[in-house]
Amino acid sequence: MSVRSEIIGCGSYLPERILTNDELAEDLDTSDEWIYSRTGIKQRHIVADGELTSDLAFKAASNAVEHADVDAANIDLVILATATPDKTFPATATKVQSMLGLKNGAAFDVQAVCSGFIYGLSIADNFIKTGQAKTAIVIGAETFTKLVDWEDRSTCVLFGDGAGAVVLRAFEDTQAADPSDKHSNKHRGILSTHLHSDGNHVELLQANGGPASTGTVGKVEMEGREVFRHAVQNLSSIVDEALEANNLNYEDVDWLVPHQANKRIIDSTAKKLKMPTDRVVVTVDKHANTSAASIPLALDVAVKDGRIQRGDLVLMEAMGSGFTWGAALVGW
Ligand code: UT7
Repeated sequence: MSVRSEIIGCGSYLPERILTNDELAEDLDTSDEWIYSRTGIKQRHIVADGELTSDLAFKAASNAVEHADVDAANIDLVILATATPDKTFPATATKVQSMLGLKNGAAFDVQAVCSGFIYGLSIADNFIKTGQAKTAIVIGAETFTKLVDWEDRSTCVLFGDGAGAVVLRAFEDTQAADPSDKHSNKHRGILSTHLHSDGNHVELLQANGGPASTGTVGKVEMEGREVFRHAVQNLSSIVDEALEANNLNYEDVDWLVPHQANKRIIDSTAKKLKMPTDRVVVTVDKHANTSAASIPLALDVAVKDGRIQRGDLVLMEAMGSGFTWGAALVGW
């Protein structure tokens, strides 16, 4: 018998204001045609003045707690994946913990940029497996548009704001695995998580400020083509790693829920997995790249519209600045 974790609910929140490509093209030397054909993005949501990462995180988390139908008081771990915290310190997670009315356990931020949600999920899964937490909430929330240089057309068109969250709970895995039964524990809960990083490529994608360097938060800088090349390579190897670790094949995966940075990167990973496009959750057209929020946002869309069903096997993968990359294989 072992203790494992399963996702029992999800939620998300998007700011009201939608900024379309056409609106962007009014003040910037760009076009809907360029943005859509290179990235698959049509629009992005933007926070209102005074709306903070903690506000988005709180709304997504509340939504997930309601969907999971748990007593929030039982949550003993709050992990917030974000590269756009409200303040340099303390961790925005502690503010969200307080907004949720929680007093138990630990709350902290995780900084792995676009891979942050997968990192947070992996940490929460390990906390639960070791008995250090029983009910965890993992949130990905970003106000990434605060970090973009609105005069740099090569980056500002790519990002959006939003938040997504999942609630994880411990369960005792007592059932003997039955590979023929999708609803057996073989496919129940988080099967495995896989994390990598390689700090040799920091300059390819970064915010060029920080408390210890410039004393400012900085703006996003990216060598798009190089990042694209690394993303395709790293995502391809991480999906292999996740499947091999579980003795599963591409055909066993019901849904691919990728980080939403660029439709062309998503397509190349789906092709590698031989996943038909109708088994890939794509939200980049509506949300753009919301960094750590993108996977839980996409997951919530596909769960709430009924595509992802109980017993389905879901593969999530992400790659981001650092570089960091990771995957999680999850039985829904
Ligand atoms: O979430 C973290 C991971 N991030 C990513 O995965 C992003 C990965 N990279 C990409 O998605 C792509 O590299 C981009 C979408 C950022 C760029 O696409 P690209 O096909 O690599 O274009 P490029 O950077 O090579 O630029 C091609 C041309 C350039 O003009 P010249 O030099 O050929 O005359 C750019 O100046 O497109 C120009 N360009 C634009 N034109 C109109 C760059 N941005 C724009 C724009 N509108 N917004």
